[in-house]
Amino acid sequence: MKKLVAGNWKMNLLPSQVGDYARRFLAEVGKLEGVELLLCPSDTALPAAVEAFSGSNVFVGAQNMHSVCSGAFTGETSGEMLLDLGVTHVLLGHSERRHVFAEDDELIHTKLVLAHELGLKPILCVGEKQEQRESGSTERVLREQFEGSLGKLPAELLAATVVAYEPVWAIGTGLTATPEIARQAHAFLRSLLVEKLGEVASTVPILYGGSVKPANAAELMSQPDLDGVLVGGASLKPESFAAIAKAALKT
Ligand code: PGA
Repeated sequence: MKKLVAGNWKMNLLPSQVGDYARRFLAEVGKLEGVELLLCPSDTALPAAVEAFSGSNVFVGAQNMHSVCSGAFTGETSGEMLLDLGVTHVLLGHSERRHVFAEDDELIHTKLVLAHELGLKPILCVGEKQEQRESGSTERVLREQFEGSLGKLPAELLAATVVAYEPVWAIGTGLTATPEIARQAHAFLRSLLVEKLGEVASTVPILYGGSVKPANAAELMSQPDLDGVLVGGASLKPESFAAIAKAALKT
């Protein structure tokens, strides 16, 4: 499977900055084959990103969506609205959604089902907090999040989902998981997929996220069961995100 290199701009970069970013990024990676590229800007930058990357090898995704398609939900954005813009992917259950915005597995599951119904490709994030790792509960937490958000999905929808392992302690901290820690967590997530899907489990991409940088991307992506990366801070500069995309080809 091709590696998937995805960028999550979070609440950064203005719509007016997208054109310059796209020019510089595409100058580096516009002809890159053998790797799948995805950028997830903030909602307000999505139209500019869809336009700037149309016809290129870069997909555009959203960072979240609401659990229903329309209605009295002031301030929210629905999957149907994203689709109408030309967005193809959506991040769901990112640790900031779980821990800052109190999203639980049940809500994330509802969003996942809706994303699939609409034809948006969901990237479901799971990951343990520092104290959970220290108390030896990493696998229990990963299993709970996996079961709670994905467990009830029909097999064909589960098989069409991207999973991202993002240990909370590694996000935005500079504390990247060691290749060994990532390898173990990815092997565990793969085993959960095998329980549900059997052989098909090997076709579901499992991304790693948490302080990925140009300097550590190739080593991480060389680990078994690590099918790409989800990059926050290092995706804000087109040259560093491009370097991570190129690192995927060395693995
Ligand atoms: P980071 O964020 O690369 O800045 O650690 C990753 C993420 O939150 O997806």
